[in-house]
Amino acid sequence: MSDVKIWAHRGAGGWDKQYAPENTMMAFEKAIEMGADGIELDVQFSKDGEIVICHDETIDRTSNGVGAVRAYTLKELKQFNFCSVHSEFGFVEIPTLREVLDFMQDKDFQLNIELKTSNYDYPGLEEAASKLVKEYGLNDRVIYSSFGYASLKKLRQCDKDAQIAILCSTDFVLQEDIEALQAIAIHPWEQLVTAENVKKWHDWGVKVNTWAVNRPERIRELIAMGIDAFITDCPDRGRKAVEG
Ligand code: G3P
Ligand code: CA
Repeated sequence: MSDVKIWAHRGAGGWDKQYAPENTMMAFEKAIEMGADGIELDVQFSKDGEIVICHDETIDRTSNGVGAVRAYTLKELKQFNFCSVHSEFGFVEIPTLREVLDFMQDKDFQLNIELKTSNYDYPGLEEAASKLVKEYGLNDRVIYSSFGYASLKKLRQCDKDAQIAILCSTDFVLQEDIEALQAIAIHPWEQLVTAENVKKWHDWGVKVNTWAVNRPERIRELIAMGIDAFITDCPDRGRKAVEG
């Protein structure tokens, strides 16, 4: 059996079939039930500076509301149903990072916090996330990632111990960026992963955690290339591929 780690993308959202609404406590609970080793989620600020979990900068796609995440206070965001599409799930609240850290307390999974700062630069988000994670004493179980180099740089400046991973959807990550950030991992889009790239990144001293992969054949190919973890919408399929 491979020891490659399975991380649930936005929780166990599902892919060709929906398991739970993405980035909700329901999806995170499902991920752990399905045997995920970790959870990946996306963070942003509400209007009143609470760290909330949401992928898009607006709530239009994932809730029954409209508008920017940052246009609403946490209390207002909690009034929207973050499962507008599948009524079988009932009313589902937007979670906060604090709620997820509470959930982690008596479990042993890893958490990948993606700082969603590429389209809107939430001033202070990096420091606030780091402060909250440290308040819970969970620094060792949290990996921060972002497509935004500037965001990761801010995080490194305020948290010398943060475990940082560089997210990339193109092959432009430089070894000097990894060194400057003291990154521990690279999180490449799965199409960028080849055996040669995995070797190169490992030679640079970082782990390779790829996203987002759901087809068992592709998962097995990536495992054979030497990846360390994969991020999937279907941790149950991931578990079977790892164990099969
Ligand atoms: O962190 C990996 C992956 O989540 C990045 O893409 O768009 O799903 O946030 P996205
Ligand atoms: Ca993400």
